[in-house]
Amino acid sequence: MNADEQKKAAAVRALDFIEPGMKLGLGTGSTAEHFVRALGARVKEGLEIVGVPTSERTGKLAESLGIPLTNLDDTPHLDITVDGADELDIELRLIKGGGGALLREKIVATASDRMIVIADASKLVKTLGAFPLPVEVVPFGAPVTARKIAEVAGALGCTGKMSRRADDYGEPYFTDNGNFIYDCAFGAIPDADALAPALNRIPGVVDNGLFVGIASLAIVGTPSGTDIIEKK
Ligand code: A5P
Repeated sequence: MNADEQKKAAAVRALDFIEPGMKLGLGTGSTAEHFVRALGARVKEGLEIVGVPTSERTGKLAESLGIPLTNLDDTPHLDITVDGADELDIELRLIKGGGGALLREKIVATASDRMIVIADASKLVKTLGAFPLPVEVVPFGAPVTARKIAEVAGALGCTGKMSRRADDYGEPYFTDNGNFIYDCAFGAIPDADALAPALNRIPGVVDNGLFVGIASLAIVGTPSGTDIIEKK
C-alpha cells in the first residue's frame, strides 16, 4: 500500500473502536479525513454517534456527510478522539499542527477518555523533530514571544530556524483561533517531555504541537496492513 492507502487502512481500522452512542472527537488532516468519511458511511447505515470537530474544515466535511455534530459547551466529555499526526514515536508522543489545528486538537483530545492516532508508516520516527514543531502564538508581541521560544528551546538542546507560517499568498497564516504559528525546525528534540510544558509557560504562546501523555493507542498503516501501538 502507498502512503494514502496506509492512511485509509489505519482510519478504517479505527472504526473497530467506535461503539453506538459514543461521543467522538474528529481530527483534522488528510488521515483524519479518511476516518471522517468512513464514519460518515457508517452513520448513513444507521450508526448513532455524535462528533466534535477539531477545525472548521473538519466540521464542514462532517456536516456534508450527515454526521451529527455538537461542541464542547454542550458535550464537554468525549469517549474517543481519532486524529492524525505529523510524527509519532513508540511512546506515543506526537508532533501535530501541520494543518494548523493543534490547539483545538489538543483541547478535544484531552476532553476525551482516549485519543487514537491514525497514521501511515512514514510518521513513525525514532526521535521527534524532523517535522518542524508548530507553536501557536498570539499576534500581539509575536516577535518577542518568538525570541523567548528560541531561548527556552535552546536551553533544552533545540535550535534551528523558526518561520512564521504564511498562507498560499505569502500573507500571515491565522489559525481558527486568530493566532500565528511559528514552525520551529529544531531537528531531533532530545527531551520532548520537558520542551512541551516549557514552551507553554512563555507568555504569548497559546500551545505547541507536542502531544505528550495524551494518545493511548496508535494505528499505523504499513505497506502490508496495519500495526497497533499501545501505550505501555
Ligand atoms: C492538523 O493540525 C494536524 O495535526 C494533522 O493531524 C497532522 O498534520 C496530520 O495530517 P495528515 O494526516 O494530513 O498527515
